Amino acid sequence: MASSTLSHFTPSQLSSSKNGIYSSSQAFSVKRSSIQGLGKDKRMKVSCMATSVTADDRVPDMGKRQLMNLLLLGALSLPTAIMVVPYGAFFVPPGTGGAGGGTVAKDALGNDVIAEEWLKNHGPGDRTLAQGLKGDPTYLVVEKDRTLATYGINGVCTHLGCVVPWNTAENKFICPCHGSQYNNQGRVVRGPAPLSLALVHADIDEGKVIFVPWVETDFRTGEDPWWA
Ligand code: FES
Repeated sequence: MASSTLSHFTPSQLSSSKNGIYSSSQAFSVKRSSIQGLGKDKRMKVSCMATSVTADDRVPDMGKRQLMNLLLLGALSLPTAIMVVPYGAFFVPPGTGGAGGGTVAKDALGNDVIAEEWLKNHGPGDRTLAQGLKGDPTYLVVEKDRTLATYGINGVCTHLGCVVPWNTAENKFICPCHGSQYNNQGRVVRGPAPLSLALVHADIDEGKVIFVPWVETDFRTGEDPWWA
C-alpha cells in the first residue's frame, strides 16, 4: 500500500496510465482529503491512496483453474451426452437380446417364432419365410426328420433383389423377376443371379428361433461367405 500527496492533477489524470504513476490495470482508490485554495489559485490538493495488486494476485492459482475447468467440462458433458446418445442409438439396428446378439425370428403376423409351434404347422421339406436379420425375408427350413434346419436362407435374390419364392413342385427357389434358380439350400444353379442366397444360423433359445449372422465357410460352396 502506498500513500502520496499530489497536486495539480485531476482525479481522471491520476487514474490515467499515461501519467506513468499507475498502470491501467492497477486497482487504486483516490481520496480527496482536502481541497486547498479553491478561492484563489483553484489548486487542489489530493491525497491519494493506491493499493497495488500484483499479477499473482489477479490470476487464479492452478488449483482454482483446474476446478473451474472441471466444472466447465461437467457443464458441457451432460447436455452433450443427452444429445449424442439418442442420436447414436438411431443407427444401431434393433436387437432382441437373443443368444449371441441374434434376432428372434418373427412370423407373418410379427409374432416370435416358437420352434415347437412352427413344426406343428410346417411339415418336412417346408420352406416358409420369416422376418430375419435387419428385417430381411428369411426362409426357415424343416428337415425331413421334422426338425428345424440349423440354417436359414435369405430370400433376397442376388441378381437385383427380388424376393425369391419357394417352388415346392420344382424343389427350387425360382426368381420371378429374371428367372434365376437356386436349389433347396439356396445355392445358385441358374443365372443371371451371380451368387447363392445368403445364409444365417437358425438357433433355438428358450424355445424361440434366433437368427444369428453366418460368418463361417458356406457349406454349399466351401467358400468364404460373400455376405459377411
Ligand atoms: S432379381 Fe432375381 S433374377 Fe433378377
